[in-house]
Amino acid sequence: MHISAASKKGYFITFEGGEGSGKSTQLKLLSTYFEKSGLPFIATREPGGSENAEKIRSLLVSGAVDSWDPVTETLLFTAARSDHLNRIVKPAITEGKIVICDRFFDSTLVYQGIGKGIGEVYIKSLHNMVFGNFMPDLTVILDIAPEIGLKRADARRGNENRFEQLDIKFHQNIREGFLQIAQNEMERCVVLDATKDTETLHKQIVGIIKEKCGVFL
Ligand code: TYD
Repeated sequence: MHISAASKKGYFITFEGGEGSGKSTQLKLLSTYFEKSGLPFIATREPGGSENAEKIRSLLVSGAVDSWDPVTETLLFTAARSDHLNRIVKPAITEGKIVICDRFFDSTLVYQGIGKGIGEVYIKSLHNMVFGNFMPDLTVILDIAPEIGLKRADARRGNENRFEQLDIKFHQNIREGFLQIAQNEMERCVVLDATKDTETLHKQIVGIIKEKCGVFL
């Protein structure tokens, strides 16, 4: 379900995937593409994306692996999302912009809902209570085996590695979780093989966006 047609002008695209799946690289390439095309857009991320949400991000992504209990962690991600949505994402959509966002609700569903054992029902109810039926128009899932993704992430990462420290089983569950979401929501989600070379993936992503929201391109 999407925001109501009456209030909707822009388009909300999220990128999801495990650690080291190459989301950031693809978001950069897509931003350059949109800039060159002269399209109105913003690129943002979660956790973070607004001044206050970035403060919450710093509490979440670094530090000891068990520094938050799963419920508190879920609420912090949700608090960050609330600020980000209200101050950045929704205003941009209302102004008719395309919003491209590195991670969103699906990450909470798989990392906290499945990985941390909070449960899907809890995560979905919380989302519904805070954000109603606000969901992305399109979600691109970059799929990669965690053995490969974690190696890639390891090579580039500073201290934002709180989630990468979790064991391989956790990351396998994350991968399965994203694939399950894609199966359940085939209209919204597209899964791409993240082991493909950067340029090929970029072309695929542009092709998908053109097909799905051709009105902008
Ligand atoms: P991100 O900076 O996107 O990490 P990466 O570059 O590895 O994709 O996100 C930081 C971490 O936060 C990442 O390990 C996934 C985790 N996360 C959650 O656990 N729940 C959430 O709701 C979100 C948005 C991210």
